[in-house]
This record gives sequence, C-alpha cells and structure tokens, in this order.
Amino acid sequence: MRIDILTILPSFFNDAFSHSILKRAIEKDIVEIHIHDIRKHSTQKQKSVDDYQYGGGAGMVLTIQPIDDLISQLKRKRKYDEIIYLTPDGEKLKQEMCNQLSTYNNIILLCGHYKGIDQRIRDHLITREISIGDYVLTGGELGTLVLSDAIIRLIPGVISDETSALTDSFQDQLLSAPVYTRPSEYKGWKVPEILLSGDDKKIEKWREEQAEIRTKTRRPDILKNK
Ligand code: ADE
Repeated sequence: MRIDILTILPSFFNDAFSHSILKRAIEKDIVEIHIHDIRKHSTQKQKSVDDYQYGGGAGMVLTIQPIDDLISQLKRKRKYDEIIYLTPDGEKLKQEMCNQLSTYNNIILLCGHYKGIDQRIRDHLITREISIGDYVLTGGELGTLVLSDAIIRLIPGVISDETSALTDSFQDQLLSAPVYTRPSEYKGWKVPEILLSGDDKKIEKWREEQAEIRTKTRRPDILKNK
C-alpha cells in the first residue's frame, strides 16, 4: 500500500513512522509513506497557502491552488482508491472502515489546518472525509497518524501473528477480554485460575464471556449494533 500525506507541517511526521510495527511494515516494503509539503506547491510569491474567508470571520482557510496542483500531480502518476480529508465534521472512524481501507493500494490523506480548507477542494477533489472523534484538533496531522496506524497494522504480513489483528477490540463489535502475563501472582494480585488450567476450551469460553461482560458494561452502544 502507498500512502501520500499532504500537509503544511511535514516535519510533524519526522520519525512518526520509524518505530516498531510501522517501521517494520515500511522495511518489509508492505507500505510506502510519502510526505508532501503543500507549501512547496504554492505559486504565490511568498509561498502562502492560506487566505481570509470570503464573507468575513475569524480564521484562515487553506487555498485551492497548491492542494489541487499536488493532487493532480499525484493522480497523473497512479490511480488512487480514496482521497481522504481528515476533518472533525467527517464520518467518524470505526474499525470496519479501517478494515476496508487496509485493502486499498493507494490513498491520499489531506491534513487540514486553521479554519479548514476551501469548500471547493472538498466538493471536487476529496472522495471521503474522516473524523477521528468528536473533538477538534489543531490540524489533521494527528488524525492522519491515527488513521495510518489503524490501517497499516491490518495489512497481511504487518503483524507477525495474523490472528492477533482479528481478535482486536471492536472486531466483531466486541471489546477484547482482559489479558495477563507472568508472574501468576504479584503482591497477592492473582491471575484468574482458569487461564492457568491448560484447558483450551474452557479458556476460550471464559474469554468470550469476559469480552461480552466488558462490552456490556463499558460500551453497550457497540453491542446494540451486533
Ligand atoms: N482535524 C481537526 N480535528 C480533527 C478530528 N477530530 N478528526 C480528524 N481531523 C481533525
């Protein structure tokens, strides 16, 4: 998969993809990340990328020209499955969407800033708008990182134990069961006996029950969608 990230803050991504699972995915050539500085594509003398809103109002708006030129340049080279704008008024990110996006070959992620981007970019160039939650961030960069991370880890070959991504919380609309590791007792805090029993069938049943209890108590809203 190739991910092109369009931003006015390219340095934000320095090192962001050089850790752990994401780093390995890039080293294994499963994923290519390309960071593009929107400002470099501005035809304005001062390389400006934003302007005042028509009609008045506080906050600057990202202009069309540099973003359009950059997207057109990328689209001339390859076909994109989605051109995504990260914005608080987009569709709220869910695991199901990540599953779908992880099957794509090429996606563009556009990070917004200031008051937003000129609506005509959204109307004519963007194919999907995604929010990572009901709160407003200073820009789309953090959203882009969250979305990229959530997608990349689902691509086959990225996580060595293929089953582990499938047993994540939210897959099957269930939260995950609690997990424990050694020691079996610490300061008198004990691991549930059943996990030490060696009885795989009973353990699986216990995990299912625990997942259901967790979901019912913490996130009954996702259970309702089942
Ligand atoms: N940009 C600002 N806030 C955002 C959010 N909640 N999700 C995605 N992009 C954003």
